[in-house]
Amino acid sequence: AEVHYHDFIVRAKSVKRLCKTREIITVNGQFPGPTLQVRNGDSLVIRVVNHAKYNVTLHWHGVRQMRNGWADGPAYVTQCPIQQGGIYTYRFTIEDQEGTLWWHAHVSWLRATVYGALIILPRENYPYPKPHREFPVILGEWWNKNPLDVIRQALKTGAAPNVSDAFTINGQPGDLYRCSSKETTTFLVTAGETVLLRFINAAMENELFVAIADHDMTVVGADASYTKPFTTSIILLGPGQTTDVLIQTNQPPGRYYIAAHAYHSAPPSVTFDNTTTTAILDYIHNPKSATSPKLASLPVFNDTAAAAAFTAGIKSPAPVQIPSPVDNHLFVTVGLGLFDCPRNKRCGGPNGTRFAASMNNFSFVLPSRTSLLQASELGGPAATGVFTADFPASPPMHFDYTGNVSRSLWQPIRATKLYPIKFGSVVEMVLQGTNIFAAEEHPMHIHGYEFYVLATGKGNFDARRDSRRFNLVDPPRRNTIGVPQKGWAVIRFTADNPGVWLMHCHIDSHLTWGLATAFLVSNGVGESESTLPPPPDLPTC
Ligand code: C2O
Repeated sequence: AEVHYHDFIVRAKSVKRLCKTREIITVNGQFPGPTLQVRNGDSLVIRVVNHAKYNVTLHWHGVRQMRNGWADGPAYVTQCPIQQGGIYTYRFTIEDQEGTLWWHAHVSWLRATVYGALIILPRENYPYPKPHREFPVILGEWWNKNPLDVIRQALKTGAAPNVSDAFTINGQPGDLYRCSSKETTTFLVTAGETVLLRFINAAMENELFVAIADHDMTVVGADASYTKPFTTSIILLGPGQTTDVLIQTNQPPGRYYIAAHAYHSAPPSVTFDNTTTTAILDYIHNPKSATSPKLASLPVFNDTAAAAAFTAGIKSPAPVQIPSPVDNHLFVTVGLGLFDCPRNKRCGGPNGTRFAASMNNFSFVLPSRTSLLQASELGGPAATGVFTADFPASPPMHFDYTGNVSRSLWQPIRATKLYPIKFGSVVEMVLQGTNIFAAEEHPMHIHGYEFYVLATGKGNFDARRDSRRFNLVDPPRRNTIGVPQKGWAVIRFTADNPGVWLMHCHIDSHLTWGLATAFLVSNGVGESESTLPPPPDLPTC
């Protein structure tokens, strides 16, 4: 196994998009940031130097970080941010993961431009069918304004953040936007090849449908786990998710669009970015005179059936060992909520309220003096009051979560509540979407873990009826799962990674509003089941 050393200099850079020049935060002046390519079993040593005028942290999305929360990255969860002018070195090893992951900033809304691919190849000499070519395809969003101002404004008024001005593929909006044609991302291929496209949804606020003109996609991986190959004309990725697909370049030489637009599961009255980003799949030797690229056909924005069918198609390639029996049964609501407007203020949310979001009706608040991991590991008396370990295993009351929920039933409470789990126990979690203000799909992500998705469905979860639908044979292993709009998802995992691990909706406004909690997984027996000591350069708050 190899050790890969990188310097990541976080700094501002001016870039032009949609006819306007704006300063963005980047790593090494690159947007998207550098692609990391490693092999299973390799280690990474990434020295982050913060030359931006904001505090920063980086998160290695999907990397399990066994016993090593210190390298995970979410601000105030596993570390204090790297201050302006500060340096912190992330050291971690890839243990039994292969496929596509990614990295991104994990503080405020910096990840809008601070992200890149993390590609994990199989171990050396491990035989696998190599594609002729492969490309990371990173989907993102673009705002003409500084995204940090977009969320600041939203928090100030209590309203929803302004929708993005464009979607991007590898940093470029593409042909269909103003002043963007020349820079449209192009993937050069030749006829008769098998090409691996590693899709990553790095968008802040949107799940995205993707289609390629005249080319079907065979899905072979998701979230750095192999999947049973299945062929489809569209794929769907929630923010945080990755999907590896193979395509055959078996069409007449030409230019074909790879297109993406939003999957908008909220009611049509909720505004969203309804634009389409494109890149071009370009067969080399295509005569210069070529006409415009062939159009790709995407599902309509609210095609819930297409979304559900795609999600249901993802399975493990072979029967898996499902963790059992279950020690911790959780039933957790996920959804939006509304806070009252403080007196003498005018709020911009629905009916003069402010937006909030919650899990089991607790709207998660981050500490500011230390991180949760530092408090739990090193805290001593100073840590008292940083968090409590009493996140409830079920909601405060039961009702029709997906019906017309009255606001008076469901007023979120701000708190920093962690859910304690004993090392080695098996956790099963029903994630129940709610319909407060507006129901929409929530891509739920867990740090430091992968989980099996046993089932997803519509309406209120009913244990007796729905547990019969659990896939206990070949469920997919993922780190992010979309909880369907007005529906539910059931996940299961073994708590074999001690430390503090964030769980949250990967739609960034929802995270900002508190759609999060964290697991506090105890140490097991001996060093090999205990959290590693903190690195000496761990930032302080
Ligand atoms: Cu991509 Cu908290 O994560």
